[in-house]
Amino acid sequence: MSIRNVLVTGGAGYIGSHLVDGLVVRGYDVVVLDSLVSQVHRTGTWPSYVNAKARYVRGDVRDRDALQPLVLRADAVVHLAAAVSVGQSMYEVDRYVDINTRGTALLLDILVNQRHHVEKVIVASSIGVYGEGAYECGACGPQAPGLRPAAQLAARQWEHRCPRCDAELRPVPTPESKALYRDNIYSMTKHHQEEMVLLIGRTYGIPAVAPRFFNVYGPRQSLSNPYAGVAAIFVSRLLNDRQPVVFEDGGQLRDFVSIHDAVRCLALMLEKPGADFFPVNVGSGYTVTILEVARTLARLLGKSIEPLVTNRGRTFDIRHNTADITFARDRLGFTPTVPLEEGMAELIAWARTSPDGAVDLFDRALSELEQKGLLVQPTA
Ligand code: UD1
Repeated sequence: MSIRNVLVTGGAGYIGSHLVDGLVVRGYDVVVLDSLVSQVHRTGTWPSYVNAKARYVRGDVRDRDALQPLVLRADAVVHLAAAVSVGQSMYEVDRYVDINTRGTALLLDILVNQRHHVEKVIVASSIGVYGEGAYECGACGPQAPGLRPAAQLAARQWEHRCPRCDAELRPVPTPESKALYRDNIYSMTKHHQEEMVLLIGRTYGIPAVAPRFFNVYGPRQSLSNPYAGVAAIFVSRLLNDRQPVVFEDGGQLRDFVSIHDAVRCLALMLEKPGADFFPVNVGSGYTVTILEVARTLARLLGKSIEPLVTNRGRTFDIRHNTADITFARDRLGFTPTVPLEEGMAELIAWARTSPDGAVDLFDRALSELEQKGLLVQPTA
């Protein structure tokens, strides 16, 4: 392997920009392709944190004229450019499928039909591909439930129950082998992306990896994008002296992984062959409730603002999903190093001084959910 030139699509974004910094430090020549979408980059210009040692090209991953020359010069491609909101994908179907699925299809079309020297392709996937996480019934064993029906959310029965004995199910860490259910358009496109890249990789002998990111958090996550990234959404609310809005009862469990650990894991995927041709969970292995996250962020910000617990569910939300990171540990030697409290404190320290500020557009996103009937009206 002699990877030197790395193309990072979406390299001005949140995960991408940290990866670019990490790759530059490791001595790679990095080229970024990014379209600077206004939902993430409000000013439509290159963000202040761009890395002076990388080369930046403004362009869309769906534009062959922009993408092809960069792919043909690269030894590795890390494909992060994507539309990334679960809720929004349920009413901007065409845009999500076009950017995510077709953008990846174009990349693969270039790799299959042009002479290139790409030795590794990494495509960002998501925990969205699992739908609900893995569960266990104390009496009946492992369970893999689907989405909770709207009637269950309307009755505010948040937890899953065993289809055989009706006992409440216990969430357990989700391994890559869990059955996949794509319950929203975003997750379907993430599944398309990972399956397409792994298939073409296997067929043509191009090592390919699909990191399934859990809830990545940290500096540079857009504070003014109300559609994705729950930790940044909460910080934005708090900085504007508003209550973070918590869906359901706040007891939903997630695995929050620091951006620095996520980037370390990506670098391992690039440099080691251990995960080639596989999807890989990228999480911290540590679970926390959403309510706890909202309270921790308020405390670290020094705000005595209690989260607003709505007791209302969104039709597309899963209840729990936490990462089993055994595969990444065994195959890549990945060990998360940033404890939640420390990572959240770093997010806060950055948010206080973020040059772009925190424009709280959450109410707009919330009313879109209401209008589309995606926020369930309780019956009781
Ligand atoms: C989502 C995706 C993640 C993707 C990311 C991209 C899923 C399950 N999550 O994560 O894979 O990489 O977008 O940015 O596909 N919540 C609130 N209040 C809010 C926002 C969210 O209570 O203001 C709750 C949700 O109802 C949910 C939990 O927080 O129960 C976490 O939501 P999740 O969809 O995992 O978080 P995102 O960060 O948006």
